[in-house]
Amino acid sequence: MKVLVTGGLGYIGSHTVVELVNEGHTPLIIDNLENSELAVLDRIESITGKKVLYKNIDLRDRSAVFSFFKEYSDVDVVIHFAAYKAVGESVKLPLKYYENNIGSLVNLLNAMEASNVNHFIFSSSCTVYGQAKNLPILESTPVVKAESPYGNTKKIGEEIIADASKSSSLKGILLRYFNPIGAHPSAKIGELPQGVPQNLVPFITQTVAGIRDQLSVFGNDYNTADGSAVRDYIHVVDLARAHVDSINYFSKMDGNMEVFNVGTGKGSTVLEVIDAFQESNNITVPYKIVDRRAGDVEAAYADNSKIMELLNWKPLYSLQDALKSAWEWEKKLRKV
Ligand code: NAD
Ligand code: WQD
Repeated sequence: MKVLVTGGLGYIGSHTVVELVNEGHTPLIIDNLENSELAVLDRIESITGKKVLYKNIDLRDRSAVFSFFKEYSDVDVVIHFAAYKAVGESVKLPLKYYENNIGSLVNLLNAMEASNVNHFIFSSSCTVYGQAKNLPILESTPVVKAESPYGNTKKIGEEIIADASKSSSLKGILLRYFNPIGAHPSAKIGELPQGVPQNLVPFITQTVAGIRDQLSVFGNDYNTADGSAVRDYIHVVDLARAHVDSINYFSKMDGNMEVFNVGTGKGSTVLEVIDAFQESNNITVPYKIVDRRAGDVEAAYADNSKIMELLNWKPLYSLQDALKSAWEWEKKLRKV
């Protein structure tokens, strides 16, 4: 299959491009390098041994997106990663987030329709569930009002795809990611956080690398095993494989749209992640307990039985594997 990967030089996109090549697909990348580097393309090619077509296009540029599809009208599937993703920034600059995350999505869907490209995989997020009443979280768990403009772009994005798929030949697969962590086992690609990392694992690796003094654990008074918050941390390579498996599912799909949780099905507390990091890397993580972070939910982990059954997907990496790979990547980045 010819697979357009928007945001294909970013964190999850680059790992997905590698898995696509591994499975014999032909990825084409669009990325405007706003949160990535051209060097990632070389690293993808060095992992896979294959040249990958790359175009520097900003998806907000409607005519550029239409021109791309005129030239590459034989694209079979689009996997859409390109978006802004910083929750805090989205509260301060909501219109920036709506313009990119919604504007780019609408441009893409319009250009696809004009070129008769009908298969679409969308990066959604477990953030659409907010604090679910019942755990683990099923795909049928209600989607709630978003806590942030970023979260709202995922909720609205899902609705746009649902509406478009009802009125055209579009088939959409929405993947609701839980917490992606880790890096490729080659340590050639991984996450490149800008500024101070907001996410737990990059903050841990930067702390251990000496870039941050210590990790702040946001709250130890939650109603969980040790008081710290629970999340479902999934290795980015396992998450990438879920996209490849989704491609195979289009031909079996009954309706126009399908939603899948992508998580391990196992919740871990922040303190458990710290312990697992220390054990798997044999290194100490300096940390202190501070107040809860505004907007955080207490606990979220996936019921992943639907994706395991229908896509025949399962996570292959453990939390320890993921934390080891995250540290290997950080060491390579910082030359520690
Ligand atoms: P990322 O920032 O590493 O990758 C996104 C890529 O898209 C970047 O390379 C960026 O340069 C590119 N991009 C952004 N706007 C663009 C535009 N207008 N035109 C062209 N390229 C553009 O992010 P990621 O972590 O790989 O996330 C990928 C997707 O998954 C996003 O949609 C994100 O919201 C979603 N998601 C991420 C997480 C997470 O924790 N990382 C969790 C759930 C969902
Ligand atoms: C995980 C846990 C923190 C940093 C965010 C987005 C969500 C999704 C994934 C895209 C929480 C705790 C963190 C730190 C800490 N992104 N923590 N100290 O909050 O589950 O989700 O990223 O869709 O939309 O909101 O992930 O990695 O930020 O936090 O104690 O320095 O680690 O409180 O319990 P989160 P995270």
